Amino acid sequence: MKKFLKLATLVVIMFGSFTVARADEGMWLPSVISHTRLKDMQSKGFKLTAEDLYSVNQASLKDAIVTLGGCTGELLSSKGLFLTNHHCAMRQIQFHSTIEHDYLTNGFSAMSLEEELPTDNYSASFLKRMDDVTVEVMVGITAETSLEEAEEIKKENIKKLIAKATKGNGFNATVEAMYYTNQYFIFVYQKFTDVRLVLAPPSSIGKFGGETDNWMWPRHTGDFSMFRIYADSNNNPAAYSKDNVPYTPKRSLKISLKGVKEGDFAFIYGYPGRTNEYLHSAAVKYIVEKSNPHKIALRDYRLEKMIEKMEQDPAVRIKYAAKKASVANAWKKWQGESRGVVKLKAVEKKEAFEKEFIEWAKDKPEYANVVQQFQALYNELEKYAFAMDYYKEGYNGIEITKSAKSYSELTIDKLEDGAEKLKISRDLFYKNYDSTIDIEITKEMLKRYVAEVNPEFVPEVVMKHKSKMDAYVNTLFAKSIFADQDKIDAVLMKSSKEAIEIINADPAISLQKEFAKVYAEKILKEYKRINTKITSLYKYYMKGMMEMQSSREFYPDANSTLRIAYGKVSGANPKDGVHYLPQSTLEGIIQKDNPEIYDYNIPQILRDIHANKDYGMWEVDGTIPVCFIASNHTTGGNSGSPVLNANGELIGLNFDRMWEATMSDIIFSEEMCRNIAVDIRYVLFLTDKVCGAGYLIDEMVLVK
Ligand code: ARG
Ligand code: GLU
Repeated sequence: MKKFLKLATLVVIMFGSFTVARADEGMWLPSVISHTRLKDMQSKGFKLTAEDLYSVNQASLKDAIVTLGGCTGELLSSKGLFLTNHHCAMRQIQFHSTIEHDYLTNGFSAMSLEEELPTDNYSASFLKRMDDVTVEVMVGITAETSLEEAEEIKKENIKKLIAKATKGNGFNATVEAMYYTNQYFIFVYQKFTDVRLVLAPPSSIGKFGGETDNWMWPRHTGDFSMFRIYADSNNNPAAYSKDNVPYTPKRSLKISLKGVKEGDFAFIYGYPGRTNEYLHSAAVKYIVEKSNPHKIALRDYRLEKMIEKMEQDPAVRIKYAAKKASVANAWKKWQGESRGVVKLKAVEKKEAFEKEFIEWAKDKPEYANVVQQFQALYNELEKYAFAMDYYKEGYNGIEITKSAKSYSELTIDKLEDGAEKLKISRDLFYKNYDSTIDIEITKEMLKRYVAEVNPEFVPEVVMKHKSKMDAYVNTLFAKSIFADQDKIDAVLMKSSKEAIEIINADPAISLQKEFAKVYAEKILKEYKRINTKITSLYKYYMKGMMEMQSSREFYPDANSTLRIAYGKVSGANPKDGVHYLPQSTLEGIIQKDNPEIYDYNIPQILRDIHANKDYGMWEVDGTIPVCFIASNHTTGGNSGSPVLNANGELIGLNFDRMWEATMSDIIFSEEMCRNIAVDIRYVLFLTDKVCGAGYLIDEMVLVK
């Protein structure tokens, strides 16, 4: 028995480090899907070819995907209609919402093209092509070139590459590093800025379950919204104009009504933001033991204050809806992430791997000392990283200085030329601002900053008031013109010279300037200096890992570029005695429904539909499917990404991960990691029966 166990463990260890494909883990670059990768996909059920996924010569699935800057969207019709999440559209919905037209609460359905609402500062970009440009980026760099020089040369090369790729075609492009600068790709995009809001369900559906259910399974959120891209009469991007027409995309998705079941192949195509799968153990330790706990505690306080006021005042509820959601989102994710990292023993696993690496590298000069250097550098970095965490999560939690910042470097010319722009951003800021929340938060954030951060990083003006912080902040808010839009507006009515004098003497401006100075000079500069060394170390570490595990196929960390992840529709066993089914239904919504609880109070129409079983063509087994989970490797930015079946037809809309899966940005587990999608059939049911916009479905191609 013992012998057998030993052998089994050995096999597991070997496979742990040398498997070709670590099942379901990975976010793959669509233009370079390898033969082995495709074979693996096909063996799991995928029915298409690499060309179907990505092609520059013919329309492929990539042409139906857009990046919305932070979220993903997918084309549903040949008339530019696209789908994304409700939470990705929050700011756009909020922008058009007032107490009289509360689209956040009641939802919005355009009943014709004319009724679609132009958006503010929103765009959808299609990827035209992506290419490996490693050789071009490295031109001119030799073994003798210093690190700093190499950086300069690369910058220049990249500039040239971008200029060439975008010359005369109206495209825009970026060059992104993969595998810690071991490889570079150029991404060329076509960006559309006339994007209009078409449909949003009531928040009680689009955000059903609120923060309680966020990151959780079982889930019942109808997290979707629809927009339409408009183009000029030549189908090219154009600024908003009422003469623009619906854009005709190269490709839109077919929608499957066949549904999903345990084990079905499923893949996701979208723009994951950031992952750190190859971190050294010291970095993971810092995240879990220090960074996350402190950031969570700072957000605990901010959330408490926001919620207190939102519950008292419906106007504040609208103002802070999106803000609170975004604060709560990462706050909850970090908690899940820390638990997951501990549970999977990520630090211990990484330490064990690092030992193996050191052993392997012993006789290889290029790698021999790589791993050993990380610890010392991370020790050196910690003080700055921690101050940076407090600057970003503590100081940046203060709102008044954000408004002040736009006025802190004004000259008479800038003030006069920029008056209109300033007015627009001022209106936007104060539309969603409540100084009674901000004053409480400011007090607490400054107190904690002083208590936790090394004194050398505390601005003088804050240090000076260390023992009487409340009084300092009270005076600041009483005196600052930035506590109240009327006060700034009044000051800006004066002559520019006078206005600038008043602004420059404002206490919120001083606080902002001092923090900015300390941050730039004492924190960021040192952080960058040390981090540059760490990054260049990672370049070798990464390259070494790839050599050491030469039969393992690696994928680059997510960096907001287009990726494919694949897995299967699959339930999970998150803890002893608990099994998660892969699908939720309308019955679960009715079970959770409670008019007394804000997050679970569904619209009456949905109750009525359920009571009368008025499901029409959308009925499945006597109910309506709502959400499902699958083992696709995803992260923030994958929100709004299409979940597709083996034929590349749309089956779901990604919007979340299971809480037990949030460590997958650092370490993936096939058993634990599940992404959460709204079943496309629920989206269509809502569009038709709840939003009364069934006419939109006529634009789509349904596969029955
Ligand atoms: N957790 C999902 C994501 O990371 C959904 C977020 C929606 N926001 C929220 N606070 N519920 O984006
Ligand atoms: N909700 C996330 C987003 O906005 C996706 C969830 C995740 O982090 O996987 O992108």
